[in-house]
Amino acid sequence: MTKIALFASGSGSNVQAIAEAVAAGQVPAEIALLVCDKPDAHVLQRAKAFGIPSFSFQSKQYESKEAFESEIAGRLQAAGVEFIFLAGYMRLIGPVLLSAYRNRIVNIHPSLLPAFPGKDAIGQAFDAGVKLSGVTVHFVDEGMDTGAIIDQECVRIDSGMTRDDVQKAIQQIEHNLYPSVITKLLNGHREEQKR
Ligand code: GAR
Repeated sequence: MTKIALFASGSGSNVQAIAEAVAAGQVPAEIALLVCDKPDAHVLQRAKAFGIPSFSFQSKQYESKEAFESEIAGRLQAAGVEFIFLAGYMRLIGPVLLSAYRNRIVNIHPSLLPAFPGKDAIGQAFDAGVKLSGVTVHFVDEGMDTGAIIDQECVRIDSGMTRDDVQKAIQQIEHNLYPSVITKLLNGHREEQKR
């Protein structure tokens, strides 16, 4: 089974969806580590309930991004992690992790990139009055939500929908799309290794 790590900063509904899909045997992976940069984030309780080991840290306790990413990289390698999936991790990935996991870090973002990158993408789309938004899963590079797009799915924003309605619709899609993209990626990786 391919070992993966999940990175998150908040509530962790995507971590929950991935962990459920793994437990149901739908995603061919073992979640070897949850990395969280907010020691009081709800996602840590969700991980505990699934028996997923976690590492939480506060960036201010380190001298630099390089210092905390080196610690994370060491823990990932000790756990045998091959792929990293960001699930609401609200921090740019730096050169240490990017070079250790080149083309093996994937993110989910709640808009149709390249529209509305960065924070509060749902609020940005809602305020802009667009009628079509959605979800993007993409590889992570040094930019903010700029890496190669793997898959996207649309959500219609009908008049009368509140920001909360849009968020619910987006998250419902995320919870199906992310596990299915992870499965395709890991299956493709296994096929490549067989060759
Ligand atoms: C998700 O909607 C995810 O797409 C978004 O954070 C939310 C986390 O929710 N990520 C970003 O905005 C990354 N730029 P969750 O903690 O309930 O999974």
